[in-house]
Amino acid sequence: MKILVTGAAGFIGSHLCEYLLLDEANEVIGVDGFLGFTDHSIKQRNLFNLINHPRFQLVKKDLLHINWEDHLEGIDVIFHLAGMPGVRTSWGEDFKLYVDYNINGTQRLLEASRKLPIKKFIYASTSSAYGDKTGMVSEDATCAPLSPYGVTKLTGEYLCNVYYENDGVPIVILRYFTVYGPRQRPDMAFHRFIKKMMAGDPIHVFGDGKQSRDFTYISDCVKGTAAALYTDHPIIGETINIGGKERASVLDTIATIEEIFQRKATIEYTGKTRGEPKHTWADISKAQKLLHYQPVISLKEGLQKEIEDLKILYKGV
Ligand SMILES: NC(=O)c1ccc[n+]([C@@H]2O[C@H](COP(=O)([O-])OP(=O)(O)OC[C@H]3O[C@@H](n4cnc5c(N)ncnc54)[C@H](O)[C@@H]3O)[C@@H](O)[C@H]2O)c1
Repeated sequence: MKILVTGAAGFIGSHLCEYLLLDEANEVIGVDGFLGFTDHSIKQRNLFNLINHPRFQLVKKDLLHINWEDHLEGIDVIFHLAGMPGVRTSWGEDFKLYVDYNINGTQRLLEASRKLPIKKFIYASTSSAYGDKTGMVSEDATCAPLSPYGVTKLTGEYLCNVYYENDGVPIVILRYFTVYGPRQRPDMAFHRFIKKMMAGDPIHVFGDGKQSRDFTYISDCVKGTAAALYTDHPIIGETINIGGKERASVLDTIATIEEIFQRKATIEYTGKTRGEPKHTWADISKAQKLLHYQPVISLKEGLQKEIEDLKILYKGV
């Protein structure tokens, strides 16, 4: 199959491309504009296993300006992961970037896909679309995002549904829940905690640290995402949660990091941030049924793998 992955140089996109290429029947075109707050060198590193792969091609272009006609010929499936992630940075002047990349970039790709015979258009959305909920959340819960980021990703979902209803673009929406593991973005909590721990510096915790998240290890997330392509179940038009094996509070995760490092962390509380829900918890029964999805990596195992990766990334720093 000829597959287009947007955001291919990103954390999740690079892992997804590698996984899709394990299937010798697949050819992957990765589009990425090297945009957003993550350093270029990190994105370059993310592409390490892909760049010389004979069935991978990188198109280094911005979704806002790319001439899609040059790149969509013969494409069977689109995974649309490019976007501006991150809740904390989505306020103020930077909101414009979120509107541009998450809304306008998505609309341009949907418009270009409208008349093409693609089999699936899989959109990476987020648990941030839900906002603050009590207990386990299923896909039919009312969405009420708490952050500008969540608003733009939910708008991307709405656009997908608009092009599905009007033009039959075969969309599938996946809502990811806090993904972690090797190559996790530097702005994300585990990456920041581990980096500080390695340097012996204090770990900064927002709020009281009792907020909990449904943490999804990267290989589980990628298998769930790829399953949207391979499943025999009819999933066009569906929205599906991709959650992890374990939930934990921020303080619990720091305790696990301390256990792995075999030393105590110094924690500094820096006050609550805007836009973060107190808890996230995915009901994954729909993914289990439609995608045969089953997350298997425990938090401790996943954190160990992320620590190993960050030790390599920051060696000598
Ligand atoms: N990481 C998570 O925990 C998480 C959770 C929920 C949803 N998501 C969603 O998954 C997707 C991937 O997240 P990630 O953590 O891998 O982020 P990432 O920043 O590592 O990857 C996104 C990539 O998209 C590219 N990009 C952004 N705007 C672009 C544009 N206009 N044109 C071309 N390329 C562009 C960036 O250069 C980047 O490499 C995002 O859409 C995000 O909203 C991520």
